[in-house]
Amino acid sequence: MDAVSIERAITPKTKVIMPTQLNGRVADMDSILTIADKYGLQVYEDSAQALGAKYKGRSAGSFGLGGCISFYPAKVLGCFGDGGAILTNDVGIYNTVKLMRDHGRSEDGNVSIWGYNSRLDNLQAAILNYFFDDYEKIIGRRREIATLYYNGINGIDGVILPPTVNSDIDHFDIFQNYEVEVPNRDELKEYLSNKGIGTLIQWGSKVVHEFKDLGFTQSMPFTENIMRISLLLPLNMSITDDEVDYVCQCIRGFYND
Ligand SMILES: Cc1ncc(COP(=O)(O)O)c(C=O)c1O
Repeated sequence: MDAVSIERAITPKTKVIMPTQLNGRVADMDSILTIADKYGLQVYEDSAQALGAKYKGRSAGSFGLGGCISFYPAKVLGCFGDGGAILTNDVGIYNTVKLMRDHGRSEDGNVSIWGYNSRLDNLQAAILNYFFDDYEKIIGRRREIATLYYNGINGIDGVILPPTVNSDIDHFDIFQNYEVEVPNRDELKEYLSNKGIGTLIQWGSKVVHEFKDLGFTQSMPFTENIMRISLLLPLNMSITDDEVDYVCQCIRGFYND
């Protein structure tokens, strides 16, 4: 979330700021919390992609009244089906959410509010526990791969890379994704595919307001442009250094660099 743009977007109806800690990097939370304070707004973080990411030593999901983490299989800590967690220090939210996750039912069996079936099942929890043991190692490797990518493709004209692992002491990034902004994105994707390299376009290149069936009428040219030029490079625990090097060489080849 671009903190500079927030104040312009606040209206008398605004109640909440919800920063998304995208790609495993925490937004500029000092500015966001200052603005929230100034306008009396609550902050809830979408930390679905950011378990373990930090800003000034503080973890994603711990800044506002509440945050969420996704354990969807594509996430750095993923289970084999759907799963997630809500983080909060607010006792009221904790108690309500705990009821809502189980049909509004408390441990004594009394149902006091309407709720959902959002329990994390035991099998998924066991899988998460198993992978969690190696979580720091996994993040370390992802940061290593990000460094290899940076060293391999930085300096290509028009190609914008994520910040490097040590470029900003305020941020500890976990690289849920390595998302680059590139000219001729769709052509690059096809070129890489023909070289045997799979890449992904986050959310199919569309932002939520572009799904007109949902009733949105706004246009957001800045965001839409970012979605049209962004590409996720391969980043997983089985990719080797040589394979990352091959991806980098192919990208350089595409741009004749
Ligand atoms: C930023 C962000 N928010 C929310 C979600 C939704 O998470 P889940 O699929 O676990 O509901 C995702 C997952 O794709 C995400 O990346």
